[in-house]
Amino acid sequence: MTPMPATAAVRVRRAELSDLDDLAALEESSFATDRLSRAQYRRHLDSESAQVLVASANHRHFLGTAVVFFRKGTQVARLYSIATKKEARGKGVGSALLEAAEKLAARRRCVSLRLEVRTDNEDAMRLYERLGYRRIGHYARYYGDGADAWRYEKVLD
Ligand SMILES: CC(C)(COP(=O)(O)OP(=O)(O)OC[C@H]1O[C@@H](n2cnc3c(N)ncnc32)[C@H](O)[C@@H]1OP(=O)(O)O)[C@@H](O)C(=O)NCCC(=O)NCCS
Repeated sequence: MTPMPATAAVRVRRAELSDLDDLAALEESSFATDRLSRAQYRRHLDSESAQVLVASANHRHFLGTAVVFFRKGTQVARLYSIATKKEARGKGVGSALLEAAEKLAARRRCVSLRLEVRTDNEDAMRLYERLGYRRIGHYARYYGDGADAWRYEKVLD
């Protein structure tokens, strides 16, 4: 696997059918529980209420993904998932995905973006707090393996 050059620009685009293998593999390597299946990703690609984003460098080199959910009747968007390939972490991919998710939510007239994170996921919490997310709730035994979650929110411009 070619490593991501430190200077490569990260681009974020909508996921396509040809990304499904990369999406499923990244999900498998990033999360132990509560994973999105390939079939779920497939459905989200065509859904009005979801948007799957892909970060890439050097044209089509897949680096990471974010999944945003929208629900009718609410102006609160939900970041359901975000993950960067292990070898590309710490280079701004997660930040680029999160900023793209925020822009997308704002374009769909959402006033805030919310997300949940395992209370032991330090890397993710640092990213969220650096980008201006605030803790608004705590949920005991939120995840399939019994782990607790923090809920975070950012009010969008
Ligand atoms: C959480 C996660 C998505 C972050 O992705 P990432 O691509 O590493 O995120 P970034 O690179 O934007 O930010 C991470 C760090 O790199 C630093 N960084 C950002 N851009 C950088 C750049 N161009 N060069 C060097 N470092 C950079 C950031 O300052 C940040 O440091 P900090 O966390 O100490 O503040 C990633 O760790 C991951 O996939 N984890 C597994 C899945 C997961 O837990 N997802 C969250 C579920 S809620």
